[in-house]
Amino acid sequence: MKALLILGLLLLPLAAHGKIYERCELARAMKRLGLDGYWGYSLGHWVCTARYESNFNTSATNYNPGDQSTDYGILQINSHWWCNDGKTPGAKNACVIQCLGLLTEDITPSVNCAKRVVRDPNGMGAWVAWKKYCKGTDVSQWIRGCQL
Ligand SMILES: *[C@@H]1O[C@H](CO)[C@@H](O)[C@H](O)[C@H]1NC(C)=O
Repeated sequence: MKALLILGLLLLPLAAHGKIYERCELARAMKRLGLDGYWGYSLGHWVCTARYESNFNTSATNYNPGDQSTDYGILQINSHWWCNDGKTPGAKNACVIQCLGLLTEDITPSVNCAKRVVRDPNGMGAWVAWKKYCKGTDVSQWIRGCQL
């Protein structure tokens, strides 16, 4: 019993590491960090992309067997190009950050790196989920009813 309690206390900070955002809460955080209209993409594009990339879960990770890279965090930033996870062959780390830092409840590191990603020629086309589910749709629905 006591051992379990201690184990629980030890694991609590790990469990509390990430966070599931609510749609409007994420919209507000992204707006505050300057994503609304960034590189020509209105806020709805970013919220829509986060929904389909991570389901608003900052702890989300997904492994890509093809190039042995992993996508990290609310915007699924990829370790082949953008961040360092110490295990991706040929990684570039163009955002000069640790991938694990993209899993915290503070989305600032993810937003800063996303701004770098979107400045590439493909724009938001870098996100498969954006191309598939957000591009060409009425993305204003993603910020509807939010007090921004
Ligand atoms: C968020 O992602 C983490 C890591 O994949 C997972 O363990 C957790 O269950 C997810 N939370 C929800 C509510 O889906």
